[in-house]
Amino acid sequence: MQAPSSIGEFIQELSKRGWLKRIEEEVDPCLEITALSEPVMKAQGPALLFERVKGAACPLAINLFGSRERMGLALGVEELTEIAERLRSLMQMELPQGLWAKITMALPKLKELSAFAPKQVKDAPCQEVRLLDQAASLDILPILTCWPEDAGPFITLPQVITADPESGKQNVGMYRMQRFDQRTTGMHWHRHKGGAAHYNKAKALGRKLPVAVALGGPPAAVYAASAPLPPVMDEFMFSGFLMGRPLKTVKALTSDLMVPAEAEVVLEGYVDPAEPWRREGPFGDHTGFYSLADDYPVFHITAVTHRREFVYPATVVGRPPMEDFYLGLATERIFLPLLQMVLPEVRDYHMPAEGVFHNLVFVAINKEYPGHAYKVMNALWGQGQMMFAKVIVVVDAQVDVQNPQAAWWEALNHIDPARDILFSKGPADALDHAAELPWLHSKMGIDGTRKWPEEGFKREWPDRIEMTPEVQKSALAKLQKWGLL
Ligand SMILES: Cc1cc2nc3c(=O)[nH]c(=O)nc-3n(C[C@H](O)[C@H](O)[C@H](O)COP(=O)(O)O)c2cc1C
Repeated sequence: MQAPSSIGEFIQELSKRGWLKRIEEEVDPCLEITALSEPVMKAQGPALLFERVKGAACPLAINLFGSRERMGLALGVEELTEIAERLRSLMQMELPQGLWAKITMALPKLKELSAFAPKQVKDAPCQEVRLLDQAASLDILPILTCWPEDAGPFITLPQVITADPESGKQNVGMYRMQRFDQRTTGMHWHRHKGGAAHYNKAKALGRKLPVAVALGGPPAAVYAASAPLPPVMDEFMFSGFLMGRPLKTVKALTSDLMVPAEAEVVLEGYVDPAEPWRREGPFGDHTGFYSLADDYPVFHITAVTHRREFVYPATVVGRPPMEDFYLGLATERIFLPLLQMVLPEVRDYHMPAEGVFHNLVFVAINKEYPGHAYKVMNALWGQGQMMFAKVIVVVDAQVDVQNPQAAWWEALNHIDPARDILFSKGPADALDHAAELPWLHSKMGIDGTRKWPEEGFKREWPDRIEMTPEVQKSALAKLQKWGLL
């Protein structure tokens, strides 16, 4: 199975497997598409292609990534863990001792990675139609007004591309964009994110920051924009790694930014750090609550390019689980080997839907010394976007953290709250509306592991209840014979 090269190819593949529903009846991008899509997402229903959207010249695709199977198909695998295994083998650098041995071991791996460097092309589908200056307009897009108290229509599945003003190294992030008018939107990159870092550099240098926004392209590239890659890792290279072949890129018309050649639509323009920020939001967010209005930079559009025939890809976020849960799940599975490189004691981790990524993380560890659970919590709070984790629950290795009920059962049995809860403090996700201050909150680590005498626990620790295996086996056979199983 090959990862699709474009949204069109992905739609065809989904259609072949019966994982896509085409809707011919006209629908309204203002609230109605959300009201139609949310129940389908919650029921783990198919991807939806709305062929006639009121006032729009193009169809709208939604819920493309909304199941484990579709997320796998987007990345060309049956199971997301296949990618984790590929990544694990790429990262196996620990073997040799000594510099020469390290170099000889690392070289073939690096060669493997460089095979995924983006490949520049001259003629790109995303530039078949070129609308410049006054001709460039957001009016060609069926931008969704998702929820009743939203401040307006929002582009919800964009790949926002910027470059470091000094090094030229690009970043791609998925940041929602509120439509202000035909050629202006908000740019909702939170202050901790890659786009904001480039903005700050441009501001210090007194320059405008060129920005390009790709809609669609290879599904792997859409996903990569949402992945919490460390700044050294290039999203386009990562997309190539995911696809198993280089991402095709083309130079934007009005800047030096490179954009995915297979995108459906590209919005080109700039953010000017000299311009005052503008009120953005509220927006019905993936926490299931409205994220509050706040001031953000403004994106000015100077060109729009698109395929002759194009589809507008979108998502709707809201009370979980929604489509974005599966984008997050892909990240969780793919990044496990990277996490294990720094924390080899982590057997598995899971961010359940109700925790909306940053509110709750379960971690199963091979506990090897007193206080090990605390080492892991503190280390996680120091890893990239894990810094936002509000509650971390650490349990012993044998606990299945993919099953939140099992994880809570074990952890709640094993804690004495005054002893086993660590309160800490650190950066809060912008969407944490309960944080005492914006961007800053307290954190809670729960040590749900079995306690050791060396940790001061002198009482007897009970065993889990398990039936004697032979007795259970013969009982199950009897239950089957009696038709009870
Ligand atoms: C559907 C969706 C919408 C998102 N919206 C935003 C947003 O508006 N602002 C933001 O900072 N992050 C948002 N995120 C999370 C970022 O995409 C994510 O943190 C990503 O790693 C950012 O990339 P960066 O590390 O290159 O900045 C969103 C994620 C998804 C899946």
